[in-house]
Formats: sequence, structure tokens, C-alpha cells
Amino acid sequence: MSDRSDAPTTVIRLDDYRPPAWTVEHVALVFDLGIDRTEVDATLQMVRAAGDEPIRLNGEGLELLELSVDDRRLVEGEYILANGLLEIAVDAEHCTLRTKVALRPAENTALEGLYLSGSRESGFLLTQCEAEGFRHITFFPDRPDVLSRYTVTLRADRQRFPVLLAGGNPDGSGELPDGRHWARFVDPHPKASYLFAVVAGRLERISRDYTTADGRAVALHVWAEADVIDRCDYAMDSLVRSMQWDERTYGRNYDLDVFHVVATHDFNMGAMENKGLNIFNAKYLLADPDSSTDDEYRHVEAVVAHEYFHNWSGNRVTCRDWFQLSLKEGLTVFREQSFSADMNSAPLKRIEDVALLRRAQFPEDAGPLSHPVRPSQYSEINNFYTATVYEKGSELVRMLAGRLGTEGFRRGMDLYFDRHDGQAATIEDFIEALGDANDIDLSSYLAWYGQAGTPRLTAEGRFDPAQRQYRLTLRQRTPATAGQPTKQALPIPVRLSLFDRSGRALPLRLEDEARAEGTERTVVLDTAEQHYVFEDIDAAPVPSLLRGFSAPVILECDYQPEDLAILLRHDPDGFNRWEAGQQLAGLAYDDCRDARADGPALLAWTGALAELFADASLDDALLAELLTPPGEIELVERQAERDPDRIRAARQAMLLALALRVGAAPLRVRYEALRASTSAAMDATSQARRQLKRRVLDLLALIDAPLATTFALAQYEQAPGMTDRLAALATLATVAPEQAIAPIAHFRRRYEGNALALDKWFAMQAQLPGADALARVQALEGDPSFMLKNPNRVQSLVGTFARSNPTGFHRADGAAYRWLADRLVAVDGLNPQVAARVATAFNGWKRLEPTRREAAHAVVAELAARKDLSRDLTDILGRVAL
Ligand code: PHE
Ligand code: ZN
Repeated sequence: MSDRSDAPTTVIRLDDYRPPAWTVEHVALVFDLGIDRTEVDATLQMVRAAGDEPIRLNGEGLELLELSVDDRRLVEGEYILANGLLEIAVDAEHCTLRTKVALRPAENTALEGLYLSGSRESGFLLTQCEAEGFRHITFFPDRPDVLSRYTVTLRADRQRFPVLLAGGNPDGSGELPDGRHWARFVDPHPKASYLFAVVAGRLERISRDYTTADGRAVALHVWAEADVIDRCDYAMDSLVRSMQWDERTYGRNYDLDVFHVVATHDFNMGAMENKGLNIFNAKYLLADPDSSTDDEYRHVEAVVAHEYFHNWSGNRVTCRDWFQLSLKEGLTVFREQSFSADMNSAPLKRIEDVALLRRAQFPEDAGPLSHPVRPSQYSEINNFYTATVYEKGSELVRMLAGRLGTEGFRRGMDLYFDRHDGQAATIEDFIEALGDANDIDLSSYLAWYGQAGTPRLTAEGRFDPAQRQYRLTLRQRTPATAGQPTKQALPIPVRLSLFDRSGRALPLRLEDEARAEGTERTVVLDTAEQHYVFEDIDAAPVPSLLRGFSAPVILECDYQPEDLAILLRHDPDGFNRWEAGQQLAGLAYDDCRDARADGPALLAWTGALAELFADASLDDALLAELLTPPGEIELVERQAERDPDRIRAARQAMLLALALRVGAAPLRVRYEALRASTSAAMDATSQARRQLKRRVLDLLALIDAPLATTFALAQYEQAPGMTDRLAALATLATVAPEQAIAPIAHFRRRYEGNALALDKWFAMQAQLPGADALARVQALEGDPSFMLKNPNRVQSLVGTFARSNPTGFHRADGAAYRWLADRLVAVDGLNPQVAARVATAFNGWKRLEPTRREAAHAVVAELAARKDLSRDLTDILGRVAL
């Protein structure tokens, strides 16, 4: 477990980086595994890399049993062991250092290092090392720029631990006395300690043979406990698709003879890319129609791909230090998003990703926790696995890829992998490789990595009929963020088209060009303000800006509602169509908030959507997205002072206006048609139908609650799979709470023992809005399956309520803030990382309206003043409270 905060907090700074004084060429680890006590015997081949400093090894929570250098036992006084560091002065240039330590896996509730998943009787042992977990297993220079070859021997009781796994290729196994056995693994690829992993216990597997494009035979194994092994097939299929895609798209092949993937129900994060032995939160690995939603299927595919892609972007080329985290995460998210776009619908994938960025990253970038994609300092690295490092980091790679084009980007990636294979690299290295391969200087993009905050891009167009010119002025400005008062101009690629009022894209000729070329252009705004003059324009055009979301900025353009309605009707690109709809919905929201029932934007929005609703040629999934206005959390940004009740009321009003405009009869007819084609099939068309069916039912519920209730009850009973079942339950619980009681109880019984299904049951109820939300959540805490020890369970009830239920969490009397504070303290005692992540729900308290702000402030300040919390939680609270 992390230190309590009365231990001194050290701030780590990027500027202080120094290469390691000693490296470890080879490490041999021997584990004697036991649930209560495990012993680890480590032999390190140490080599001096620079200077004359002593050897310094990290080690936390370890009981040191033996220590020797070159076979000589050291006694007290020959080494210093303090504050998580073991220091040994050695004169030689290299030496063999041996330690033996003991650990207590069953007591490890922080789930960092070696821990027990599940119960003492039937659970299994596993490790989690990123970012700094390896130091909880053995003494080691636990930093990503020390790359070592690993030989790992596992020894354990055969009955209790029939399966023994470690990263690398298998290198023998056999029997030992007393019913014990052993297995050895050798990893030929030098790796950073955070990529180390072992797993031991009773696990089942599914397997497949795979041959890489360069001819290597690889055995693929997906492991899980017996009760869920039949839900691993989709993950295996996804893995094979990922491997093929990386061969095709980036020419990257897998590089060991075996690849293991393991599912656990006890995991702090989504999944982990340990070399040759990926470990997954079961939530992102298991999938079957009866217990997983369509969204979850897509997540499994994406996360399996993400972790697999890390084998090159992360493992073969790793990060020099943790400030470079986005080097592997931003890049890998980008690769994962491109893969998912190729496997599914590209525009829908882009919609999903941009919506996530706005919901999760924009608020982060605008609040007290804001930080650059490459932070310049941290006190707890675990708190930097953020939407900024991941999602915004991916957007930065996307901009670079867009600048270079498909082939240029591939050339750049080839050079990057080639140049830095087997190294711990920096973001500069990445940008340089991309640029060098294309003879382009991309260094101006580095500024994006160092500057926090979401740039505001302002666009202003003026049409000059006499000159037949359209003059577009683009300006940028980034508001000050926590600790970064002044901002510089960034290179902002703006992909754009101009449409005439009949929705036709105009040929584009900029003023210094001889003739028009195409109907789309990317201009790069790299100063505070620039003008672009388009020639041969006959009438005021409608600009479609930032197409495909070409830069992670907030666009402020003085669009008239009719302009946006034109784009919403005619833009040939699905993403931009949606984007025009979102912009228009924002204006429609303003109308509702200001009680303009016949406001022009509201009328334009509902009118355009009613028309699209009747358009049979429109894709069901896209229509479902178009019918979804920005969520309550995004709309928060349109308010100066936030009152979640008023935001919800205005949003509900605009949905009601939309439902009325579409009309009860068309909604009913559409619902019935979609219902008639219901199946459990997982193809894109079936998924799209389910998604639209849900939107239609929710709209219908606003104007004909009794009919919607009847539909929802029947849908719950007849649902062929989880998507329809859960959607019906959520609709019922919102529209007709009384009638939802029995189905909710039924769901609970039906999925007794299915942890992931129960998580959804908790989460669905945690999201229900309104004054009684807190009481409902408190009652759910009394359910026998609720436990603070399991991260998924905490996230599904506590996390969902705090982050995704604005009206419930931000009740004006502050009761939910006080409740959360209590839970945070309790969770922190078990698992600091999880407590810290949930605590980020306090992120936006400063911009709440005064009553709520006062209430939140009191709670946050009191928590932040405590001295008995973990470093993880203390770090978040300290920054949030500022
Ligand atoms: N590196 C993991 C991933 O993206 C995330 C992770 C971080 C998992 C820390 C566990 C601990 O892909
Ligand atoms: Zn990752």
C-alpha cells in the first residue's frame, strides 16, 4: 500500500531527469508462491552506467531476508535501507546482487504488486506492476529506462496452483517434492520492470494457433476462472483481428512463441500490457449476449487491441520516464481507435471518441486537475493515467498523422520503431522520427504536449459579393489553467469545406492559387490570428469547420441556426453531420434554458431532426446519435454558474420539444418496426437497431408514458440479450419507478453470481436522477453483493453516482458530498488508487452555483486537511481544494 501522507511527499520533476547510474542486464527471479506468504529470490546482473554513485534499488513493503553482493552476504551497516530505497556502495563496474524477500499477497488490498484475486479458497495470485508495482515484489531500480532480460521460475503447490504463468517463452517445468511443481520462463526481449507479470492458480483456458505474417508460430491462450471461461471467445477473436491488423497496417509482428491473456475481477484499471502476459479487468475481456451490452462488446474489442498494440508502442519502444507516458498511451489509443474504426463504422467511432473527449477530458482540462499531455511534475504517478494523457494524447497523434497523410505517417512510424526498438524513448524522439522520415519539421507540435487547457478557436466569415470572395478569420486563445497562467499559440489544423445553401460543397480556391482544387482543405492556424480568402464564391457560404474534429479545440463560430441545419441535413460526412447537430443542439439548449419555447435554434434543431427521422436512407445508428443531444455533463460548459437541476430541466425540455415535433405516432410506429426485427445477433445492423430502439422509446416516454411503460415491460421480458434488457430496465426505472421494482428485483436474482452483470445493475440505479438518488444509493450499499474491496463494484455504485449523476450527487444540501467523503476515506484504507480516481468527481466544485459550492468546499477542505490519507488521495484532494 502507498505511504500515508504524513510521510514526506516528494515532487518529481521532468527537468530533474537523469539517466540511471546502474542498470540491470539480466534478472533471475525465483518465486516460492503462497497466498499468505511468498518468497522472492532475485539475482541481478548489475552494470554501472555512469558516475560513481552507489547502487540504489527501490523496495516497498518488503521483508528483506538476505542480501549479498558477488556471493558475499552483507550485514547491517554495509547497506542503507530507508524510505523505500536500498543503497549499497560498490566499487566495481559490475556485480551480481542477490536479495531474498518475503511478501504477503493476501493482505494486499491495494492491488499493486503481487496480490490475490478472489477468495482465499479458490482465488488466484497475480501481479500488477505499472507504474511502480515491481518495487512491491523485489528490490530493483524500478524505472522504465532500465531494460533487462528476465528469467522467471515459479514454484508452488500443484493442487492449489496448477497453472503457473510468466511473460516470455516457456523454458521447462517439472515436479518438486511435497506435491509442488515448477515452471520457468525466459523473455529474450529486454523490458522495463513495469512490464513484468506472473499469474498462478486454478484457471481454465481457450487456445488458438496463430502464424504471424513473418512466419512465427504463436500459441494464443485466454485464461479465466472456470465459471467464465465460456465468455472468452469474443476476446480471442478480437485478439486475432488485432494481430492481423497490426501486421497489415503497421507491418508489426508479434515476437514471442506464446501470448497469454488473463481475466481478473480484481483490477484497478482497464487492462495491462505486460510483455507476453496481458492481464485484463474481466469487464474488458468477457463478453456474451446474455450478460454483455453491445457497448461492452465494442469495448472488449478495443481494449484487447489496445493492450496487444502496446507490444510495439510501449513494450518494444518504451518510455524514458513517466512524464513520457503519453508516448505509449496516446499513441496506442490512436492505434486502437484506428483499428476500431476499420473494424466497425469509422464515423460512428469518431463520434464516440469525440463525445468521450468532451465528457471526460475537456472538464479535466478546464479544472484544478488540468495538466499538459506531458506533465512537468507529479507527486503520485498513478494519478496521471488520465483522459488528458490518453484521449487528448491520441488527438495529438491524430493531428500529426493527419499532417503526414497515411503513407507519410507509416514511414514515420517505421522509422520510429526502427530507430528506438529496445529503447526507452521520449516524445521528442517520436516527433523527430515522424518528421525525419518525411523531411518535415514537426517540432512546433511539441508545444501541444507541454501546454494544458483546451484552445478556443474562433471563426468569423465575411462574404464580399463585389469581389466574389469569402474571407474567413480564425483566431485562437487558450484560457489560463492551474499553474500555467500564460499560453502560446499552437499549430491547429483546421479541415474545412464550404457549402452553398442547397447543401452543395463548393470547389475551393485560396487567393494565391491558380485554380480550384477539391472541396476540402486543411489550413494550419499557427499564430493567434490568420485570414483565409476563398475566391469565386457567389453567395454567402456555410463553412463546415474542423471536419473530423481535426484538432482538440472548442470551436466558437457565430453560426445562425439555419446554417447548422443545412450542415445537419446535407454534410456527406457522418461525423460532421453529427457535429453540426451537436452545435445546433447547444443553441437549442440555450433557447430552452432561457425559456424561449419558440426559439429559432430549438425550432431548427427539432425541425431538422424530425425530417431526418422520416428519412429511411439514414443509418439507424447515426440517427440514434443524432437524436442524442450533448449530455448534462457537457452542457455544464454552457453555464457560467452551474446548477445541475436547472441544466437537467432545460435538457429535458429540449428532448420533450423534439419528441413532440417528431410526434407520438411516428415514434410508436418506429419502435414497433424496430421491435419486430429484434434478435440477439451481434452484427452492426442489429446493434444499430437496438440503439435506435432505445432512443425512440426514451423519446416516446416523454410524451406517452403509459405506452412507453407497456413497451418497456414487454421489452424487459422478451429481451434476447443484455442490451435490450438493461435498456428496458433503465427506461422503466425512469418513467415508471413503481413498475420497475419487480423487474429490478428479477434482474438481481437472475444474475446472482455474475459480477459484471451485477455491476451494471448497480450502475443503472446509481444513475437515476433526482432528489431520492442518494437514498437509493445508500440502500444499494446494503445489498449483500456490495463491497468496498472490489474496484469494479466501487466504481459501479459510488463512481457512477459521483461522476454520472449530476442532479443526484450535487444535491443542494451537500448530503451527497459528505457521503462521498466518508466512502473515500473507507476505500482509501483499502485501495488508494481507486479512492483517488473516485475523488476526481470533486473536480468541478468551484464553478457550481454558490450554495452547492459552499457545501462542496466545506467537504473538500476538511478532507484535504486530513493527515491520515494515502499519497494518491492526498495528491488529488490537494489539487482539487486549491
Ligand atoms: N497501461 C495500461 C493501459 O493502458 C493501463 C494501466 C496503468 C493498467 C496502470 C494498470 C496500471 O493500457
Ligand atoms: Zn495503454
